[in-house]
Amino acid sequence: MTEDNIHPEFSRQLGKKDKETLLRQQGLVLWLCGLSGSGKSTLANALERHLHKKQKYSIILDGDNLRSGLNADLSFSDNDRNENIRRTAEVAKILSNNGAIVILSLITPQEKFRSQARNIIGNSYHEVYIKAQFDTCQKRDVKGLYAKQAKGEIKNFTGAGSNFTEPENPDLIIDTDLLTEAESLTKLTEFYNNLDHGKL
Ligand code: ADX
Repeated sequence: MTEDNIHPEFSRQLGKKDKETLLRQQGLVLWLCGLSGSGKSTLANALERHLHKKQKYSIILDGDNLRSGLNADLSFSDNDRNENIRRTAEVAKILSNNGAIVILSLITPQEKFRSQARNIIGNSYHEVYIKAQFDTCQKRDVKGLYAKQAKGEIKNFTGAGSNFTEPENPDLIIDTDLLTEAESLTKLTEFYNNLDHGKL
């Protein structure tokens, strides 16, 4: 078997603590999930700018960006979403183990995908549900995708042709139907600051 010939090098590499000491922060993952148009990318970008000002080193892994590179070979079928999320979780694990604050922005539409991400990443995984009604996202339609979907031009569209189930045990819920962008960011930064990690 191929696995027999693979010898991971983790033990000879510098560890997570060494990187965290250098960066003066703890590596962790903030996994923002929710419908397209719920506000994930907006909040991810706002949080990154906030952290940058505080001299914290973060990296955004955004679904659309990854799907134009690393995950360009994947569709929106259940199997391909699973692979999209698996690969992204593995990347997030490597980056957070190297001291980065990794901010994910991925629809992650079902519990099986979210628990897979949680299992891959372990204790560093923090799930943030960016909540907004389908109707709200449809009205916002920042990328014009809901209009295309209504015309039947996109198949398996999340929330319409493909299911989105609400997270069962998110670590934080940010309801962008109720909160402004500034209020949402405050809630997210407070969450980060309250993590033990944030106190470093
Ligand atoms: S996930 O379901 O696999 O987590 P991901 O976050 O990577 O999705 O990609 C979602 C983005 O792809 C959306 O924000 C949207 O811009 C685009 N997109 C294109 N087709 C679809 C589709 N069928 N369903 C959802 N999003 C789509």
